[in-house]
Amino acid sequence: MSTPSLLILPGDGIGPEVMAEVVKIIDWYGENRGLTFDVTMDLVGGAAYDAHGVPLSDETMAKAQEVDAVLLGAVGGPKYDTLDFSVKPERGLLRLRKEMDLFANLRPAQCFDALADFSSLKKDVVAGLDIMIVRELTSGIYFGEPRGIITENNERVGINTQRYTESEIERVARSSFELAMRRNRKLCSMEKANVMESGILWREVVTEVGKDYPDVALSHMYADAGAMQLCRWPKQFDVIVTDNLFGDLLSDAAAMLTGSLGMLPSASLGAPMANGRPKAMYEPVHGSAPDIAGQGKANPIACILSFAMALRYSFDEGEEATRLEKAIEKVLADGVRTADLLGEEGATPVSTSEMGDKIVAALDASL
Ligand code: NAI
Ligand code: MG
Repeated sequence: MSTPSLLILPGDGIGPEVMAEVVKIIDWYGENRGLTFDVTMDLVGGAAYDAHGVPLSDETMAKAQEVDAVLLGAVGGPKYDTLDFSVKPERGLLRLRKEMDLFANLRPAQCFDALADFSSLKKDVVAGLDIMIVRELTSGIYFGEPRGIITENNERVGINTQRYTESEIERVARSSFELAMRRNRKLCSMEKANVMESGILWREVVTEVGKDYPDVALSHMYADAGAMQLCRWPKQFDVIVTDNLFGDLLSDAAAMLTGSLGMLPSASLGAPMANGRPKAMYEPVHGSAPDIAGQGKANPIACILSFAMALRYSFDEGEEATRLEKAIEKVLADGVRTADLLGEEGATPVSTSEMGDKIVAALDASL
């Protein structure tokens, strides 16, 4: 196969700072594991607006469609708050998601043992937690028509519509079953089939797709019960699939079980391309963190873990992804912390770049 290609879009604020650490990791794989990537660096968000007057140029969009994976830092910042809605930094991100048709948003909730004390839940509830929430990202109530605010009987009425077609449910269900096959063969689908017709259809279609995956144990849960179970005993789950709205809430809640925003990666996957790889974009969950940008304080781990997801889901390098995750685990176990991972006790934190160097050193030690 030809050299895998990566489009790197560092973006704004701490985006470029955390991405610089990912580049160190990418270079390490080239030098030590013979894993080289055809890397293109480009602009997105405010950085693209400053250069081109748009948050994502057509050339960058075309490149994103062509590469094996996009790796994005973060976009936005106070400097751009007064811009017109149509050219706001976030529009660049939304354009990528929409035009690449990234319908499956993968949000892991993973707890590194060294950080288990950081959770708001009891240590034994979260220690060793490793679950994945798949959120449908391109349809549902955030996009359904009709929508708007109208006047009816002399009062205003706000309207949004939850609408899912069979094929929209089918494709995200299939991605989730495929994921479950690579993990622990356990999938829980969440909707509210008790009160929503779209939920009834969701449950039916997921069940039908499940017939193609007899090795995966499929269960269904009402999303509100799912929220309770996630807080009570999250380790009962492995992969969860749910719609856009419930997924937005459940993935944010599950993510927080494990601590800091600086630790959370994500992947957004679309349909398979001609080479069999899915359209894909990987990015940390956090934003551009203007309050700490330019100070070397950002935790690069969320972005580095996003690259680990790229290794696993775009490049079929699951073992190398595990190597990287283990290196991060070791660094954390050694007590290395960026400022966001320190409690009140006030040990001296390492800088963004020192954290990257420590992870590279742990990778060296893994050989
Ligand atoms: P944020 O995620 O940028 O920051 C929230 C808080 O978490 C801040 O106190 C920040 O310092 C901290 N934080 C975030 N990432 C961190 C990291 N890697 N290491 C250490 N601390 C970290 O969210 P906020 O403040 O609501 O938004 C700031 C800007 O980012 C806004 O312009 C917003 O629109 C944009 N944003 C962009 C996103 C994206 O590019 N995907 C997602 C969320 C917000
Ligand atoms: Mg959200």
